[in-house]
Amino acid sequence: MGLLDGTRAVVTGGASGIGAATCRRMTDEGARVAVIDRDGAGAEKVAAEIDGMAYEVDVTDFAALDAAIGDADTKLGGLNAIFNNAGVGNAMPLHEYPLDEWDRIVRINLTGVFHGLKAAAPRIVANGGGAIVSTSSISGTRPAAGEAPYAAAKAAVAALTATAALEYAPTVRVNAVAPGMIDTALTTLMLEQTGLGLRPRMITKTPLGRVGAPEDIADVVVFLCSPLARFITGQNLVIDGGMTLHGSGVDGLLDVVQELLGRR
Ligand SMILES: NC(=O)c1ccc[n+]([C@@H]2O[C@H](COP(=O)([O-])OP(=O)(O)OC[C@H]3O[C@@H](n4cnc5c(N)ncnc54)[C@H](O)[C@@H]3O)[C@@H](O)[C@H]2O)c1
Repeated sequence: MGLLDGTRAVVTGGASGIGAATCRRMTDEGARVAVIDRDGAGAEKVAAEIDGMAYEVDVTDFAALDAAIGDADTKLGGLNAIFNNAGVGNAMPLHEYPLDEWDRIVRINLTGVFHGLKAAAPRIVANGGGAIVSTSSISGTRPAAGEAPYAAAKAAVAALTATAALEYAPTVRVNAVAPGMIDTALTTLMLEQTGLGLRPRMITKTPLGRVGAPEDIADVVVFLCSPLARFITGQNLVIDGGMTLHGSGVDGLLDVVQELLGRR
């Protein structure tokens, strides 16, 4: 018996990091999973590992995402879960963001989640109900300097989650996970620059004493999709080892990126 026996899920951003770990953990718990990512080869690789399906799709393209989710719904025999997780970040002073970089970050992190909800929610309702989880960030609850479009988009994901929870209750539960500093492709460049000292600083700032692993988030997504979370909806659950108890999450991020770019 798995926690997700009978779950048929799609995971966006499933080719790497938190998304890939979630595809694996969902499968371990009995779910059947379709991997969606703009990195088609990466999605195929994860799908092969979990005996799932792969779709090369950019979440900013609603028509393509809707078609992939529709196909997965048919082939899996009735979708009842989605993890809207694809996302990208950047860091620079607010007034230096080129207009198209603002648009890109908001479109992937926020509009991409809206696209996932719009495509999946009616299908999950038609299939009798289920669970939706989206990835926000501690940057949306405790923003750091340098993260303007990312922080704004992630805060909006929490609001969108609450709205969707109200609209689809009681048939579908809708929640978000807000990761802290997690070791993935998104953060490796910064964490591995030993000269910058970001990894030891993040460890020191984190009461639980380490940088997070993708599985730390994947396990919570599994929980939120499972019957154990049957009375939880509309929540934005922070998973950061206690880091934001001290203040903003990736505090000092802008200084680190400026240093990386040789601007200080
Ligand atoms: N790593 C962290 O510390 C951290 C902290 C808070 C929130 N997050 C969020 O977690 C989520 C997953 O990030 P990760 O850390 O696993 O990073 P990652 O780079 O390892 O994985 C992100 C995946 O999303 C895919 N992706 C990006 N843009 C896409 C698009 N437009 N369409 C389809 N797929 C796209 C990438 O190809 C990649 O496979 C993101 O939403 C990120 O903002 C990460």
